[in-house]
Amino acid sequence: MARSLTVHAFAKINLDLRVLGLRPDGYHELRTTFQSIALADRLTFTRVRGPFQIECDDPAFPGDHTNLIWKAAQRALALARRREQPSGIRVRVEKNIPMQAGLGGGSSNGAAALQALCRLWKVKTTRGELQHAAAKLGADVPYFLEGGTALGFHRGDLLVPLDDIDPAWVVVVVPEFGVSTKDAFAWWDQAMKEGRERRDRQDGLNRRAKNVSNDLQPLVAKRHPIVGKLVRALNKEGAFHASLSGSGSAVFGLFSRRADAQAAARKLAGPRTFVTPTLTRAGCRRLAAK
Ligand code: C5P
Repeated sequence: MARSLTVHAFAKINLDLRVLGLRPDGYHELRTTFQSIALADRLTFTRVRGPFQIECDDPAFPGDHTNLIWKAAQRALALARRREQPSGIRVRVEKNIPMQAGLGGGSSNGAAALQALCRLWKVKTTRGELQHAAAKLGADVPYFLEGGTALGFHRGDLLVPLDDIDPAWVVVVVPEFGVSTKDAFAWWDQAMKEGRERRDRQDGLNRRAKNVSNDLQPLVAKRHPIVGKLVRALNKEGAFHASLSGSGSAVFGLFSRRADAQAAARKLAGPRTFVTPTLTRAGCRRLAAK
């Protein structure tokens, strides 16, 4: 029986993100294109005696039951129809994906933990059960079971795998502040309400900003003008596509050539600027266990 298991949990960017409306369950109806990137956290699961533990060098990373890794452990036990609380595993997390950045770090950790713990605890599940358990952890979590390029509908949890995009180099710039996903969607609700009120007075409000592929971007940029500046700077440096990722705060630019991505990253230099390639679905699978 393996004593430990190490896996990589990859980050994502949203190549586009459309918010189509508010759902009856309080979530938002989305249409988004997810894309894996090689930026990853490294998770090592080790069998130990005693309680479930999560260890990380980053003091901001929660080590308790609020962490999606912990919730994934509870879900894995529920799938095995075991009623006890998680125990007997220490999870060491090497955190490389910035938090509150719209890069899916927490969700990716949750998906990686769900799969790793089902393996370590020999939980027999169908793909459907695993997807269902992942969706309960969070709207983005099912995507991370697959990775690569995929369309997400509903809350982002109904997935249609797409052909892999041509490989690209991604410059990811993460401002020093984070954005809570909940807040970003509340800003969208507020903008819709104001838009409706304005439309009652004057016809024809065009709520979709031109050349912006993420509906949350104008709302985040309004509160944090640096976001708009970074998108413009990435375009100026030659990105063939630049946008906010998810609800931010990270902004990314796509480049065909690595050298061009590196040159752009040097120009935009900040403490949290990364150059990383896109990953295919097969690449995610191959590299996850390395
Ligand atoms: O599912 P998850 O916990 O990752 O979502 C975090 C928050 O983002 C939700 O509580 C909700 O406020 C918002 N959200 C949303 N619509 C989505 C996804 C997330 O309103 N499709």
